[in-house]
Amino acid sequence: MAKYKIAWLPGDGIGVDVLDAAKIVLDKIALDAEYIHGDIGWEFWRKEGDAFPARTIELLKNVDAAIFGAITSKPVKAAEAELVPELKGKGLVYRSPIVRMRQLFDLYICLRPCKGYAGNPLNFKENINLVVFRENTEDLYAGVEFNTVPDELSEVLMKLSKPFAAFKDVPRDQLAISCKINTKKGSERIVRAAFEFARKFNRKKVTIVHKANVVRATDGLFLETAKEVAKQFPEIAMDDANIDAMTMWLLKNPFNYDVLVAPNLYGDIISDLCAQMVGGLGFGCSGNIGEKLAVFEPTHGSAPKYAGQYKVNPIATILAVKMMLDWLGETEKGNRLEAAAAQVIKEGNVRTYDMGGANTTLDMAKEIAKYL
Ligand code: IPM
Ligand code: MG
Repeated sequence: MAKYKIAWLPGDGIGVDVLDAAKIVLDKIALDAEYIHGDIGWEFWRKEGDAFPARTIELLKNVDAAIFGAITSKPVKAAEAELVPELKGKGLVYRSPIVRMRQLFDLYICLRPCKGYAGNPLNFKENINLVVFRENTEDLYAGVEFNTVPDELSEVLMKLSKPFAAFKDVPRDQLAISCKINTKKGSERIVRAAFEFARKFNRKKVTIVHKANVVRATDGLFLETAKEVAKQFPEIAMDDANIDAMTMWLLKNPFNYDVLVAPNLYGDIISDLCAQMVGGLGFGCSGNIGEKLAVFEPTHGSAPKYAGQYKVNPIATILAVKMMLDWLGETEKGNRLEAAAAQVIKEGNVRTYDMGGANTTLDMAKEIAKYL
């Protein structure tokens, strides 16, 4: 029996292309693992009304880790589902399976290292090395939303919230509410994870990203909790910044920052920014980490227009594989894989289109495999 069971979830679009690339490097590095395919994605929503079928959820309960490609996330309303013949009459609303997976398995850490590798023509500046810790289960992603606000809800809000009076005459079907829900526990554990990472890897500073000057209840709780946690890590510097200012400062001087920690949505935004500084989404890798399970993925989407063309850069996925190896405790293999990818980036002989080359997804993976 293999040492590890890994769920293999290509999903849609280029998710399939990049996972084929991942397989090449995993085979070469000879991880003692069994890879078990799981159905997930748009196709299953169309066919079964569920993009994340129960059998895939079962699979994830019985594996050590998972590799996930990408999924097309569409904001489909029930009305639009009526246009899909197979789903007509079912009143279904599409919800992103990756968001559901993070919540269902309590994968509360979204870890997104953004490291500029030497020789990458897409680096914004040389030697950027930022790490984003994004809270992964709550905040505006909680899914508590109303796009026709029920009367009961608006009555309660009229009673309890003064500012809600400004909306009192808006017709209920022209009013939408998405609840931003943050908890002390959720804030505490993501900030703690960021500080523990900083301690373990000798990072100098953790920056708390928020908008507590305006969004006072939820971001206020996040910031206050973060400051309490920081006290337990006196050797690590801490500062905080509003999300808007943070985007400017990051561009202006990325070297002032080290580890960033943010609630879900700000973390989503800031991690794309950081990924762009180290080469774009072809280089952004991501770990969704809980106590029992971790799911590793490239940060990019499914890019349907490139599906099956083996055109996109597999490095984000290969770096996600490196994160998985580290998480499994296979750090020697993880380091070797990162060094091989760094070598190929530096030599620049094999490059996908985003890097100015004409090589395919699989060419790149094979080139990396040569150094393993
Ligand atoms: C990400 C993506 C997802 C998110 C989408 C695909 C639902 O943007 O992983 O950053 O918003 O979390
Ligand atoms: Mg995102």
